[in-house]
Amino acid sequence: MEAPGRSGLGCNRFLSSHLIALERSDVTLNRPSHPVPADPAVHPAWLPEAAFAPLGSRRVALVLDDASPVADTVRAEVTAALAAHGGAAVEAAEAADVVLALRPADAAPQFQSDGDLDPEAFTYARAGGVVTVTASDARGLLYGLFHLVRLGERAFTGADVVERHAPHTPLRMLDHWDNIAVHPVMGQVERGYAGGSIFYEAGVVREDLTRVAQYARLLAASGVNRVAINNVNVGPAETRLLDDLLPDVARIAAAFRPYGITTHLSVSWASPVRLGGLATSDPFDAGVQEWWAGAADRVWAAIPDFGGFVIKADSEGQPGPFAYGRTHADGANMLAAAVAPHGGLIHWRAFVYNHEQDWRDRRTDRAKAAFEHFAPYDGTFADNVIVQIKHGPLDFQVREATSPAIAAMPRTRVAPEFQVTTEYLGHQKHAVYLGRMWSQLLAFPYWGQDGDGSRSGRTMADVAAGRHPLGDGTRVGGLAAVSNVGDDVFWTGHPFAQANLYAWGRLAWDPTADPIAILDEWIALTFPGATALVRETLHAILDQSWETYEMYTAPLGVCFMVQPGSHYGPSPDGYEYSPWGTYHFADRDGVGVDRTRATGSGYTGQYPAPWSDVYESLDTCPDELLLFFHHVPYSHVLHSGKTVVQHVYDTHFEGLERVLEAARRWTEAQDAFPADVAERVTERFAEQVRSATDWRDVVNTYFLRHSGVADAHGRTIY
Ligand code: GCU
Repeated sequence: MEAPGRSGLGCNRFLSSHLIALERSDVTLNRPSHPVPADPAVHPAWLPEAAFAPLGSRRVALVLDDASPVADTVRAEVTAALAAHGGAAVEAAEAADVVLALRPADAAPQFQSDGDLDPEAFTYARAGGVVTVTASDARGLLYGLFHLVRLGERAFTGADVVERHAPHTPLRMLDHWDNIAVHPVMGQVERGYAGGSIFYEAGVVREDLTRVAQYARLLAASGVNRVAINNVNVGPAETRLLDDLLPDVARIAAAFRPYGITTHLSVSWASPVRLGGLATSDPFDAGVQEWWAGAADRVWAAIPDFGGFVIKADSEGQPGPFAYGRTHADGANMLAAAVAPHGGLIHWRAFVYNHEQDWRDRRTDRAKAAFEHFAPYDGTFADNVIVQIKHGPLDFQVREATSPAIAAMPRTRVAPEFQVTTEYLGHQKHAVYLGRMWSQLLAFPYWGQDGDGSRSGRTMADVAAGRHPLGDGTRVGGLAAVSNVGDDVFWTGHPFAQANLYAWGRLAWDPTADPIAILDEWIALTFPGATALVRETLHAILDQSWETYEMYTAPLGVCFMVQPGSHYGPSPDGYEYSPWGTYHFADRDGVGVDRTRATGSGYTGQYPAPWSDVYESLDTCPDELLLFFHHVPYSHVLHSGKTVVQHVYDTHFEGLERVLEAARRWTEAQDAFPADVAERVTERFAEQVRSATDWRDVVNTYFLRHSGVADAHGRTIY
């Protein structure tokens, strides 16, 4: 988001005319210390104290006549940085190396632009060696402050520059799948691979929420501004968050608030029954409507800046409006009416499909479900409903097509949903960097690159920002993702999985950012003073790690060759005869799912042109999604020139080789890393090598036994 600034109208001119007038005696940098106590037992992730040295060793003028909690945070962050690194707070701009200033509401028109209305935007300028960051709101100033931290010394050196930075969308959300009561199968955090919950322990909300405050700080420094604090599968204990546990929710919201982060709750559709003792949850029932209105009143009375509700309804056994013959629009709009008086939002998840499918039934295609359940209701959802749609039509696979439902609702606010926690990508035991995968998905041009000029080039990220080519530009959605954080000392189990959390926030702020440059930022922040060896090792391990993981797991977009339940490790037929709708139909002749209009499920018809035709045809379907869209013989020749089965063998041998090479690079460089990081990563690599070997041998053997085709290179397959 390095948009060029308004040259000639840079901040310095603005400041020289306004700064002194703005300075007031109540502007002080001697306010209390850092709002979040550092805990030496917890890894600082991308905010180690050293990251603040470039800023904290300079002379800083802060012009911030604002009493908001975020303004207090900006003051406290600057104060702490100066105290730690020997800089000084100065009152006059002339004496400062760095000026952080709220732009006055009455600034002359030439100093305002439309973008100034965005409270999260900031302007960063460097002129004559002085850096200024200005914003119209303390939230923008906080993001500007972290921008300086991210740039480090580079913020203060080089040619004069004026840049405006604004987030791509106002809703940049992380969903926690944390349970209060430990679930007998899913544990404390569903699909969590980093220990327990930072919010809950032993059936209650934690007394000490220091970790939550530290987390808020990390998230603000990456760009996230909303968090839903409990699992979308809402059990009886979690239902109480809306009720007697509300004071605890208010405590969590208080920990997030100073960093500009809004708290949301996942709620159960059955809450009126479970909590209110009503006989029904029918959205058309007046008593139900009244109950939700009352619940919303109570929540906002306790937390005036509360964000809203996330809801998983009629999905994998969760209750929903279908039980009453109502649609998802009926359900969402009823909840939307309850929260609207408070400015609240409803994130209504589109993960609705038949999870009790008969595998013998070849007509039902799970991939079609979200589109079928939601697209017909486009234009009927209330203004404060966001339809949250997984990026692919199945479930966060290493490679699946982009969800056509995301492109199908020009008159609906849509939030594509991603998964930072690596449910299907190695459980944070494997080193897998997802920045490049998300970046590609966000850039997916749903209407092609060159066809109709008005549509071409519009991407998934555009839709999220309300720029659907058939929309009127007002249906601004957002971006959501499932968090990968737990109470682990490294936050994410694998220390390198921190990079995914960081990258998620940065891409939500700017989906066009280069994911490898983001990785570079993460390296520089997390490993201050990183040597060339550290940087090169991390890039060698992580840059291509998504493709590496794809190579040794399920091939060519075929999906779901995982162990049922855990979703870790290979099991090619694990889901083949299950009720979950995730089949690949491998037999002695071929493999893959025929989703064509001509002979298959017709799913390709859910895409706009050109993709409806590109995917339909074997000639044009991209290799990496071949088995997602087509059932082909093992001898089918890919665009790459290889047969399907030889491709499977080659990628699986190469995938493991790449893991071994990464492990070798790690072993060579590990002494250059902090000892605690080295120890954890070494342990994780041992498991990644074991698991990747397992994947290689199980998948290769499966394809050899099914196809009877030998490896062209005569390698060992069992
Ligand atoms: C996946 C995941 C579940 C989760 C669900 C969801 O199916 O395995 O644990 O509840 O997604 O997104 O709701």
